[in-house]
Amino acid sequence: MKEKYYITTPIYYPSGNLHIGHCYCTVAADAIARYKRLKGYDVMFLTGTDEHGQKIQDKAKAANVTPQEYVDNIVSGIKQLWKDLDISNDDFIRTTEERHMEVVQKIFRKLYEQGDIYKGEYEGKYCTPCESFWTDTQLVDGKCPDCGREVKLVKEESYFFKLSKYQDRLVKYLEEHPDFIQPESRKNEMINNFIKPGLEDLCVSRTTFDWGIPVDFDPKHVVYVWLDALTNYITALGYMTDNDEKFKKFWPADLHLVGKEIVRFHTIIWPIMLMALDLPLPKQVFGHGWLVINGGQKIGKSFGNYVPPQEYIEKYSLDAVRYFLLREVPFGSDGNFTEEALVNRSNADLANDLGNLLSRTVAMIEKYFAGEVPAIGKEGEYEKELKDTIQKAICEVENNMDKLEISKALESIWSIVTRANKYIDETTPWALAKDDSRKDELQTVMYYLAETLRIISVLLQPFLTRTPQKMWEQLGIHNHTAWEDAKTFGLLEVGTKVKKGENLFQRIDEVKVTVKEEEKDKEEKITIDYLDKVKLKVAKILEAEKVEGSDKLLKLKVSLKNEERQIVAGLQKYYKPEELVGKKVVIVANLKPAKLKGIESQGIVLAAGDGDIVKVLIVDDEVEEGELVH
Ligand code: ME8
Ligand code: MG
Repeated sequence: MKEKYYITTPIYYPSGNLHIGHCYCTVAADAIARYKRLKGYDVMFLTGTDEHGQKIQDKAKAANVTPQEYVDNIVSGIKQLWKDLDISNDDFIRTTEERHMEVVQKIFRKLYEQGDIYKGEYEGKYCTPCESFWTDTQLVDGKCPDCGREVKLVKEESYFFKLSKYQDRLVKYLEEHPDFIQPESRKNEMINNFIKPGLEDLCVSRTTFDWGIPVDFDPKHVVYVWLDALTNYITALGYMTDNDEKFKKFWPADLHLVGKEIVRFHTIIWPIMLMALDLPLPKQVFGHGWLVINGGQKIGKSFGNYVPPQEYIEKYSLDAVRYFLLREVPFGSDGNFTEEALVNRSNADLANDLGNLLSRTVAMIEKYFAGEVPAIGKEGEYEKELKDTIQKAICEVENNMDKLEISKALESIWSIVTRANKYIDETTPWALAKDDSRKDELQTVMYYLAETLRIISVLLQPFLTRTPQKMWEQLGIHNHTAWEDAKTFGLLEVGTKVKKGENLFQRIDEVKVTVKEEEKDKEEKITIDYLDKVKLKVAKILEAEKVEGSDKLLKLKVSLKNEERQIVAGLQKYYKPEELVGKKVVIVANLKPAKLKGIESQGIVLAAGDGDIVKVLIVDDEVEEGELVH
């Protein structure tokens, strides 16, 4: 029988549209789930939405709709987003579903009846955006230690959950199961900062709003949203229902993948709930880092830096986005997100390294062997090295995936890509093709390249969802694509017909950066010598014309008195070409030349404005062209 593997993402708050940071966690979970399926596991991959709580109720009110209408609308967008990202989840749980709410009520009653939940009065601080209670000593400058926002004083009748009773058991469990919290550093943080100072009983019901699951024996209370949310991992499996086969099969979870700020809930409250229910604990909680921008700011709608993730997919392709998310950031650390870095990755690793390897290989087989993969002829040292690289890389991919080092797993795959490109340079097939006596060597090179590409395509399947299929079409592959088939070199059949197709990835030349990457509230200060490095000069526009095939760019010829230059500027929307001719403007004169739409631009023209109005900076006619601006 197949071994089971149960993996979850957090269930997301539908309090606004999801951003690329949320995609990071879900795409990572998807890659792991796909990998496990390929390895032969019976996988259950769960995601969903966490729809109750004060935050959602407040948002719905502000939008003048009912909370249910509010969440329904956002949740359908979230489901669409996962489709657009090819997320292969097996179920999607909403905490507003009957199958979830009923079981949460049963659990609450059970814990109450056995004395683990009791009634009392709560007085303390609450952060609504984080739906989190804090003690005074935990606050930082009186604010929420997680998000830095204001907390509210809450004073109301509440039910409490006896966390304190389970403290010693939890500490013992964490010590005896060193892999339970990963990475290691997060475990120490939990034990030293939260558990050891003493767990206080947790307030687990609220009465001052009603968007939640009612406590069935005391309905003016709704269940605290975190107690409600965490339970999703077992309600989705049918726990406490007549239909609990999935629960029996899949629980305990093998992996809860969560962001670092919610490790606390998953490694303190959740295990204690499970202990109180006498259920086994999940095998692992992995706390990943955040995708940040501007060197530390968490991405989020409330930070004014929101771009719908679909925009990136449309602009750069799904696999480029998935590749970037999985490759750029070592899993566990925070990672910087910039559109530029995405473009660089896509151009370098995907379009150049992988894309060219495929297109060169297919083109050469077409040219030298009429499109049919030839049999291996004479083999030598290079072939042995290529094969060794492949064997080693496959081991590394598996080891890295077992450690959830997704970025390193991709690095291992790229070690094959790099080696194969080097193999072309070493064997120079174009030279072999000129020498009839070396035909058998040429055959070997072509077979090795095609077979290496087959193996790469097999290994890419957990990560990239569109590329493997495209590679198979060009390589003429219809079988030997199972994971284990990567481990046998030579499965590609001689005579397989290859067929050149479109480039796997388009090179991206012109970056239209949509993310506003300027700092919102703190501007970096520079010193005068920094400014000195930027050579601003007065330039007179001699000619201006539209760039063919672009609705944004103008090509300008400018004079700096002793020198003429060509500058490409995004001014088409704001000026007719003839309006610019004769004007004296300011340019950055020592900028490295760049190509826009294939045309070299030797500097940029300074302009101001945003959106509908953009105007170039005009210099008084008395100032000579070529003069420095200082
Ligand atoms: O916390 N980079 O929901 P949520 C990486 N409903 N990950 C990010 C991120 C970023 N910039 N922004 C958010 C909740 N996330 C609860 C979970 S689970 C029983 C209940 C991650 O929508 C974040 O770290 O606020 C978290 O793991 C997940 O998105 C959901 O966040
Ligand atoms: Mg959050």
